[in-house]
Amino acid sequence: MDWGLSNRLARIIKPDTGRSVMLAVDHGYFLGPTSGLEDPATTIEPLLPYADSLMLTRGVLRTSVPTNFDIPIVLRVSGGTSIVGKDLSNEGITTSLKEAIRLNVSAVALSIFVGSDHEKETLLGLSELVNQSIEYGIPVLAVTAVGREMTRDARYLSLCCRIAAELGAHIVKTYYCDDFEKVVESCPVPIVIAGGKKITEKDALKLAHDAVSHGAVGVDMGRNIFQSDNPVGMIQAVRAIVHKGSSVEDAYGLYQKA
Ligand code: R5P
Repeated sequence: MDWGLSNRLARIIKPDTGRSVMLAVDHGYFLGPTSGLEDPATTIEPLLPYADSLMLTRGVLRTSVPTNFDIPIVLRVSGGTSIVGKDLSNEGITTSLKEAIRLNVSAVALSIFVGSDHEKETLLGLSELVNQSIEYGIPVLAVTAVGREMTRDARYLSLCCRIAAELGAHIVKTYYCDDFEKVVESCPVPIVIAGGKKITEKDALKLAHDAVSHGAVGVDMGRNIFQSDNPVGMIQAVRAIVHKGSSVEDAYGLYQKA
């Protein structure tokens, strides 16, 4: 692996713990002004000191993140669909690599939709993004998006994660599931988990704990942080689990105290 690519990955997955707390605030690219992200700058600013990286689109990066804050950026470069459209899986590449380089990103991210009508396009999109980005030492994070009709089980998620890695993704973002270790064992690149829809703070902390205990290198969590009644407390609690191996109870105490 070349130096630039390794260095960018080390900015995202922290070498001292081998783990990562990514803050996902890219939801607006298909959900619009989703709850908690109506004013991205106000939501993001207090969370920046606790996130290892920020996953977002170029629009929110340009408008809502200070240029003088040292945080690695994972730039979402896929989209073109919306929650009210016909088919969320019909995504394409929205952002050029030149733009990603101009924005000084540490990685680029896109979704793949395995088993959907647009499986082939999204998988070839991943392959092409890897072809281009490795020329410049920029890692690619593949998000294994799950359509309504797909079951989030170890068999399906193993298939998605392995395909993403085979096509060249450097990090894979997926969902936690029963037998998650099987997903991790059959994927040769690091896995982070999405938080999914808002659940109770304790359940979200348990999810993070289960994921790292079963082999995830961390989380790429959004709604369960920024839709919490105490987002700063929540991200601190998630950090304690991911980087310090805290128990769910101890982390929950941190959330309540913050
Ligand atoms: C979905 O495709 C987006 O990448 C979200 O950023 C992702 O689902 C993670 O956010 P959450 O923890 O809210 O599920």
